[in-house]
Amino acid sequence: MKSIVITGSSSGIGKATAKYFAEKGWKVAATMRTPEKETELGGLDNVSLYQLDVTDQASIDAARDQIISDFGTVDVVLNNAGYGLIGPFEAATDEQIRYQFDVNVFGLMGVTRAFLPHFRANKAGMYLNVSSIGGLITFPLISLYHSTKWAVEGYSESLAYELAELGISVKLIEPGGVATDFGGRSMVLAMDENLPEYNEMVGKFQQAMGNSGLGSSTAEFLAEGIFAATTDGKKQMRYIIGPDAEQTWAMRQQAGDDQFIAGMRQRMFG
Ligand SMILES: NC(=O)c1ccc[n+]([C@@H]2O[C@H](COP(=O)([O-])OP(=O)(O)OC[C@H]3O[C@@H](n4cnc5c(N)ncnc54)[C@H](OP(=O)(O)O)[C@@H]3O)[C@@H](O)[C@H]2O)c1
Repeated sequence: MKSIVITGSSSGIGKATAKYFAEKGWKVAATMRTPEKETELGGLDNVSLYQLDVTDQASIDAARDQIISDFGTVDVVLNNAGYGLIGPFEAATDEQIRYQFDVNVFGLMGVTRAFLPHFRANKAGMYLNVSSIGGLITFPLISLYHSTKWAVEGYSESLAYELAELGISVKLIEPGGVATDFGGRSMVLAMDENLPEYNEMVGKFQQAMGNSGLGSSTAEFLAEGIFAATTDGKKQMRYIIGPDAEQTWAMRQQAGDDQFIAGMRQRMFG
């Protein structure tokens, strides 16, 4: 029986993927910050819950030790936990910026590092890192979230070279909009009333995003895509998942950087 460890399994893509892999007969270590609050996953066959906060290395190491002791072997780690800090860069506090990187980048690296000795010893293993189409293109007023996902892109792509030599693979998952808690409780808006110069821009941005909405895919659709990426046997680096993500990426490649950026500016700010 193959096994997978998933971070951020309490909701959205993480939870749907935990359920999907369990249905497919995988052993699933569903990790989350507060497993005591989880009422659904704990009752499922093949799913075990573990406490893991990606900003707390001691919790990562303790979960890793317990999972390996319970499962024997871990085959796949899905680095999924993350949230979005959005708004004008100047309005974000130093603390907000550092926490955004602590969760989306250093947390992902901490979990990756924790499982490396196990994967190295086995000469096998796979990391699936959840980035975003926002790790390949940008929207205005999301500089901080984008910079974490662009960091995950460069980190994962370069890491893949050295780990391939050890029999370990790294893949990137690039969702477009997914209907999860991401647009609600997982989105932090940085605002500063002393910076009225940004108000009009933020208003236009909110209107444009409100019109298009987050959520052209379901979390279950992402789970299917992640399962396919895990099991396809391909040496493929990136999996762009969702019709909006595919369309945006095609536009970026067709238009090139400058034309795409000009089009985005026009679309958002007129
Ligand atoms: N939804 C989208 O449109 C979209 C698009 C592209 C990429 N993504 C990426 O997909 C991933 C999952 O997001 P989602 O859409 O499924 O949103 P979600 O439903 O809000 O799930 C986010 C998950 O991350 C967890 N998390 C946050 N901080 C954590 C920490 N310090 N330690 C451990 N877990 C933590 C949350 O746990 P708690 O319950 O404890 O808060 C939650 O389980 C994120 O990396 C996000 O950037 C989402």
